[in-house]
Amino acid sequence: MARYLTGIQSTGRPHLGNILGAILPGIQFSKQESNECFYFIADLHSLTTIKDAKERQEYVYATAAAWLACGFDTKKNIFYRQSKIPQVCELLWYLSCFTPYPMLANAHSFKDKSDKLADVNAGLFTYPVLMAADILLYDAQFVPVGKDQLQHLEMTRDMASSFNHKLGETFVLPEASIQEDVKVVPGIDGQKMSKSYQNTIDIFLPDKQLRKNVMRIVTDSTPLEEPKNPDTCNVYKLYALLASEAEKEHMRSLYLGGNFGYGYAKQALFEMILTKFNDIRMAFNEYMANTELIEQHLQKGEQKAQIVAHQVLTRVKQQLGF
Ligand code: ADP
Ligand code: TRP
Repeated sequence: MARYLTGIQSTGRPHLGNILGAILPGIQFSKQESNECFYFIADLHSLTTIKDAKERQEYVYATAAAWLACGFDTKKNIFYRQSKIPQVCELLWYLSCFTPYPMLANAHSFKDKSDKLADVNAGLFTYPVLMAADILLYDAQFVPVGKDQLQHLEMTRDMASSFNHKLGETFVLPEASIQEDVKVVPGIDGQKMSKSYQNTIDIFLPDKQLRKNVMRIVTDSTPLEEPKNPDTCNVYKLYALLASEAEKEHMRSLYLGGNFGYGYAKQALFEMILTKFNDIRMAFNEYMANTELIEQHLQKGEQKAQIVAHQVLTRVKQQLGF
């Protein structure tokens, strides 16, 4: 059994990019018999940016509901909220004392965020130590992440090695598991779809609003009668991520044939989303209307996570002489 662990930040309602790029591949992966997956909602990390309690709670539920609606099996795997296993904060402190200050000061993501954000708090600075605690607290062997998180993984390994070197073998050294083949989903403006660019497609909106969301996709001003290039069109790119080969071929021929408006392609994309995600959208709404059910899934995972966290932290404290 190989132990995989990854955190999902609860900074908003998951969008089409999150679903196609992270949630569905993550669920597919978790189905393999030989994998034991710890997937958790990084709600403590979200406090670095989200201060409103109600908003955070809603995003935690929405993130959990999206995973559950997409079919994540909480019996086989361990699904939990980071904040419900408070030992992670204790481990954060221990690891902090094995983390050289310049390592944090030079982190790409800290430099990036401190340039962009108005609220540059100490939590942003120690973010990588909390992430290391997330990983090391559960003896994770592999951490599926995007390339942007690689430096955080290197730091985690540095902290663990430094601790092991000074106090004896304590932590498992985790390895990043990079998902190379996951596609980048474009946003309605053609950049990478991201909550931070306000260019998302929120598939969980009610039909009418979802249609409006799709209609806002940016297209060029090629006149109606002229042929259009599917390969440079945001609508087609999104459509192609969902459609079958035959559907794609048909849509391409419409683009190339002329006398075809982008409105038609947008309507086809909207209908494709409704069809493809019908069950997921329904399940999402059911979960959001019954957060007790979400609680049950999470609490089950939190009990399992608690057991591992307790064992590992006991080992760490013994080594430290506490
Ligand atoms: P956002 O950029 O919207 O804030 P996050 O950084 O929280 O999204 O990403 C959560 C997960 O979703 C990550 O695994 C990330 O790689 C994936 N993801 C986010 N946006 C996209 C996208 N446009 N295409 C593919 N995957 C994405
Ligand atoms: N920092 C990760 C991100 O922004 C989220 C995260 C928090 C995480 N703790 C983790 C990922 C532990 C992997 C392992 O996507």
